[in-house]
Amino acid sequence: MTQDELKTLVGQAALHYVEPGSIVGVGTGSTVNKFIDALASMKDRIAGAVSSSVASTERLQALGIKVFDAAEVDELAVYIDGADEIDHAGYMIKGGGAALTREKIVAAQSRKFVCIADESKLVQTLGNFPLPVEVIPMAAQRITRQFAALGGVAALRLKEGVPLVTDNGQHILDVTGLKITDPLGFETQVNQWPGVVTVGVFAFQKANVCLLGAPGGVKTMVF
Ligand code: A5P
Repeated sequence: MTQDELKTLVGQAALHYVEPGSIVGVGTGSTVNKFIDALASMKDRIAGAVSSSVASTERLQALGIKVFDAAEVDELAVYIDGADEIDHAGYMIKGGGAALTREKIVAAQSRKFVCIADESKLVQTLGNFPLPVEVIPMAAQRITRQFAALGGVAALRLKEGVPLVTDNGQHILDVTGLKITDPLGFETQVNQWPGVVTVGVFAFQKANVCLLGAPGGVKTMVF
């Protein structure tokens, strides 16, 4: 099975967690795109979605799914999103698609986080994937030095040769060389650095369930 087929498999499996009549929290990325496509088959049985990015909003609306602003709704029953890495405790690195801030906000608003991923995303220790960190541009140089003190190398994410600008008007640093053995402690520490908008470690907003696509089918991990 190709990676794309595995993504389709978990995207469809995630429909099982969508409560009829509810508003669904929807993440961002190529795996979530498969979920959004599958969700279209349920569009008349849900109230709509809260989206974590402009890209997901556009895809949802194109399929006729109503998108609510996060501020319009209270708690969501479930948030469905992909990950760049997930460990055996449900801690994740996210933000490869630059949507980490809104993803963390919608995840925090949801009772259950269902992560959908192909099996290549499962790791023993977080940090092999370059850690995305959304930053206020004027703080980027100092934050780069703070990561260097932890052994990390931060690079400004570019798009078409110029700094990528997020949906929130900020920049992204991608940090390599880290081994994140204490995700909760690491997230707490980096969150305290002035100018950090969001660090892409999802420890406080970890997954409750992971649907992992493998050639033999979907493995369900519960944390
Ligand atoms: C988006 O900012 C990310 O957090 C994605 O959820 C993550 O990068 C996974 O994306 P794919 O499903 O495209 O691998």
